[in-house]
Amino acid sequence: MISKTTISKFRDLETPFYYYDLSVLNSTLKTLKKESGNSGFKIHYALKANANPRILKIILSQGFGADCVSWNEIAAAIKAGFDPSKIVFAGVGKSDIEIKNAIKAGIFCFNCESIPEIEVIEQLASKQKKTVQIALRINPLVDAHTHKYITTGIEESKFGIHTWELDNVLRALSTMKHIELIGIHFHIGSQITKMSVFQSLCAHINELQDWFTNRSVDIKVVNVGGGLGIDYENPDKAPMFTEYFNLLHDFIDLKHGQELHLEPGRSIIGQCGSLISKVLYIKNGCNTMFAIIDAGMTDLIRPALYQAHHKIENLTSKGSIYRYDVVGPICESSDTFAKFIELPETHRGDFIAIRSAGAYGEAMASRYNLRDLPGSVFSDEM
Ligand code: LLP
Repeated sequence: MISKTTISKFRDLETPFYYYDLSVLNSTLKTLKKESGNSGFKIHYALKANANPRILKIILSQGFGADCVSWNEIAAAIKAGFDPSKIVFAGVGKSDIEIKNAIKAGIFCFNCESIPEIEVIEQLASKQKKTVQIALRINPLVDAHTHKYITTGIEESKFGIHTWELDNVLRALSTMKHIELIGIHFHIGSQITKMSVFQSLCAHINELQDWFTNRSVDIKVVNVGGGLGIDYENPDKAPMFTEYFNLLHDFIDLKHGQELHLEPGRSIIGQCGSLISKVLYIKNGCNTMFAIIDAGMTDLIRPALYQAHHKIENLTSKGSIYRYDVVGPICESSDTFAKFIELPETHRGDFIAIRSAGAYGEAMASRYNLRDLPGSVFSDEM
């Protein structure tokens, strides 16, 4: 909920901007810290969800590590104060310069996605006379039952190594002197709301654990990636950390001394952020009225790209209910935040909040149409 006092302060600010409610973020972090502490799980925050420097500092203060997918993300994490020994580096296409920099920085682990990638890491580590820890990202072929663009563990996915290639991977690793295999890594998708999906993942993880044990390969780290979904319909609802952690605890057979690592992004940062925008014009359409707002798909691309639903609130009107298509100013028909939704009678100048936008909102903003990037405002600055 965005309070009346906060809304009154929005009037002094240039729209559109991201508003981050730090009481929500802090309470999410508190629960995550407690639940991960109770179960002994290690958290690496997925920076791709939101790498705003202020957010990074707050998340870091809980002692979590970082999950990065580019050298620039690693550099941002280190700049914010994350300990390189708690940084993992994922991605199907790490470039040579990114690998070199990450080796030099002494990160914890490379999550590797192919034999050719591991060969390049071996060569580059050898040049720096270093031994590098890696985990194998394995495609367990578990359908995440989420939008197809954020499903990453099915046959057609570019991500991960197929289980039928694992023999070849072990053979290749046996010739490498600068690589130490420490873990197995999984990430089957994002915005996963069915707990049964995670349960299937756990079953596959157990099978793979046996596969490695049968070959006397010692796996120290089991990393289950991110993926826990949030409730976009109810922006004030906290993520289901307790259920999720209990499930991982109950269904993964961790071996003695093994650590379980996670890479949550959306579940940490999603619910604390809203995109705040002002209504520019109300315009009659054939079957609906358009509320044209000053935020567009350049500020929040999720509805255009994934047909994502975000709850939209008119913060400044209490009028009778009408139906509107809420659209942005960009020259693309996909620049539509919601179609035919109920809002109190809406006028030019009203403030609109697009809720649950903390994750993959600001982080995916672009300058298409040469628009300015959205600003960010924190609740404690108001
Ligand atoms: N680990 C890996 C290897 C990942 O690829 C991702 C997300 C995460 C962790 C964090 O997942 P999360 O807990 O946030 O679900 N832009 C899309 C989401 C893309 C997710 C990409 N990978 C969206 O707006 O829905």
